[in-house]
Formats: sequence, C-alpha cells, structure tokens
Amino acid sequence: MTIITNIEDLRVIAKKRVPKMFYDYVDSGSWTESTYQANESDFQKIKLIQKVARNMENRSLKREMLGIEMSMPLSIAPTGLVGMVHPDGEILAARAAAKFGIRYTLSTMSIASLEDIKKEVNKPFWFQLYVMRDRDFMRRLIDRAKAAGCDALVITLDLQMIGQRHKDLKNGLSVPPKPTLRNWINLFTKQRWCWNMLKTKRRQFGNIVGHVEGIDDPSSLGSWTQQQFDPTLNWQDIEWIKEAWGGKIILKGILDAEDAKLANSVGADAIVVSNHGGRQLDGALSSIAVLPSVVDALSGSSTEVIIDSGIRSGQDLLKAVALGAKGGMIGRSYLYGLGAMGEAGVTKALEIIRNEFETSMAFCGETEVDNVGRHILVPSTIPDPFN
Ligand code: GLV
Repeated sequence: MTIITNIEDLRVIAKKRVPKMFYDYVDSGSWTESTYQANESDFQKIKLIQKVARNMENRSLKREMLGIEMSMPLSIAPTGLVGMVHPDGEILAARAAAKFGIRYTLSTMSIASLEDIKKEVNKPFWFQLYVMRDRDFMRRLIDRAKAAGCDALVITLDLQMIGQRHKDLKNGLSVPPKPTLRNWINLFTKQRWCWNMLKTKRRQFGNIVGHVEGIDDPSSLGSWTQQQFDPTLNWQDIEWIKEAWGGKIILKGILDAEDAKLANSVGADAIVVSNHGGRQLDGALSSIAVLPSVVDALSGSSTEVIIDSGIRSGQDLLKAVALGAKGGMIGRSYLYGLGAMGEAGVTKALEIIRNEFETSMAFCGETEVDNVGRHILVPSTIPDPFN
C-alpha cells in the first residue's frame, strides 16, 4: 500500500484506477500542452523568503471569499464529466468540500445534477454556467441553481470554442463518447470503477438530459452541445445573466488586465484568472504569470481575484495568495484524489494542500492568511511577463 504524501501520489493511483479515456481527459492540455506545463513550472520559479525565531503558534487559514467564510483560501473548480472519473464523483467531491469548509463548484457539464447535489449533500455550493444559445434553458438553469442553494454563479468565458486535446480525439471522447475498441477493453479492466458504475444510475449529463425538450438520449445530446455554446458571447450578456441570477457572480477565464477591468465594470464580484488548466489557448501565459498584473489592475476595486490552473500544492496556493489572490481553485489536484479513492481521496487532496500551505506560511513567518503578502516572496522572482 502506497503511503500518500502528495498530490502526485494521488495522480499515480488515479491513473491506474480510472478508465484511460477519462483519465486522459483530465490530464490533457490543448495542442502542444505548453501552457499546461507552464502553469506548473512557473509556480516553481517563484521563491519564498524564510523567517526564523517567530512565534508560530495559533495558525489560522480561515479566509472570506465573496463574503463566505472558508476554512482555507480555496474552492473546487468546475470540471466536466466528474461522474465519469469516479461514479457519482460530483456528489462525493461536493461532500468532501462541504465537510472541509470550502465551496464545491458544479459544472453545467456534470453527470450529477444540481438537484442531486442539493438532495445528497444539502450544503451551499457554487454553480458554473456556460453561455448557450438557448437562453430559456440558461434561465431555467439559473433558477434551478437558486433552488439548489447555490451562493455564487461562476460564468465561464473561455470555452465558447474548444481547444483541441489530441488524446480526446484519439480516444473517441466525444459527446456522446464513442470509445475505440481498445478503450472499451481498458474500461472493463477497471473493476472498481465498473462496479461503482453499475451501482449508480447517473451516467448522463444530469443538468441537461430531461431538461431540454427533445433531449432524452445521448445522441441528440451530442448534436445539442455542439450547437449550443454561443460564440457571440460578449460583455453585455453578463449584465442580463447577473440580473437574472440576482446574486454573486464570478467570471472565469480572465488572462488580461484590460479584461479584468471590463469584468469589474460589468459588476463581477470576483474573477478567476484562468487558462482553463492549459486546455484552451495553447501558447497563453500561465495563470500565475498573469496574476500580478490583474491584481494590480483591480487594486482598490471590489472585485476579488481568484486563480486556477496549475495549483498542485499548498506552496503553489501560498504563492498565489502572496501575489494578491483572494484564493485559488483546484481542478486536477482534487480529480486525482477522486479517481484514486473517491470522497476519501478528495479529502486527502484537501488535507495535503492545507498542511503544505499552513507549514510553508509559518516558515515564511506568518500565522494568518490575511497577513500573507508579496513581502514573503523574493522580489526578483515575482512574475513580470511583459518585461
Ligand atoms: C471543459 O471545461 C473542458 O475543459 O473539457
């Protein structure tokens, strides 16, 4: 039995347990994966300053994000197809997050539905919305998210088109999936996954199937999704969504200081500096490289800055917070835990990141998250990608 000490250990186990096509879906970036790789490697370039002989007792990681108290500056990013990485994965991850005292974000393209999470977890969570051509369906989704007790709406701005991920094409991971023979064989070798899949009824996109007229089988769903993501999306759309929702909105996918200001001007309560885990524009800067310029652009405004893409450790998260992020979001880091060990694996991933964050913060001479700032970073290692 492997002793799990870091996120990489969880990834290695997940790779063995999750059917190849779904594992590959998680662990892929677009095209050459240069942005996907930079997301991780750029964190390594930032260096922390150690301080010694300071009282390190009574540490606290508590942090308010959007006025919600979190046990640490973190939430779970929206990720699609979670219920294929582990059967009922959304419910398990949402449960782990709620017990940990952070928010889970349910993707529009999830297997479990909004109503499933409400029924099975019954704690507030966030809902991620794609802008689709069918505005009536969007309005219904917004109403369903309200009824399910969601306390923020995450609007994804960077996926109106899909960045090509080679492995998904080669594996036949389309909507609906058309696995290759090799992938079917691989699927049946994952006994634990197959057994759990047999026990659940949740095998389709739960937020969509049965909620749109004419969509009750996977093949019609396929053509529907391909047609639905609306390429005309623009800043005015945010205004009507904000009005229809009436609560906090988080705009996800910002990689530019000017866009951050536009997000603020349309009333974003928070933005997520994100390149979608390196899955969309290959060749874009890493999220952590962009973060300081976005934080500076929004300084003095009420829009909070969250970051995702590349956080695989508590040290990564600490660096992001030091650069001015209110908090981070994790996608792959929790999905590896989920694929490895279900709910216990997500809890393990969160514990790993919390312990790494807390210990490293103390090494840097701070005991409270709210006191962490750029002073804990070696100045010459703070990203300045435009110079
Ligand atoms: C969807 O959000 C994806 O990255 O596949």
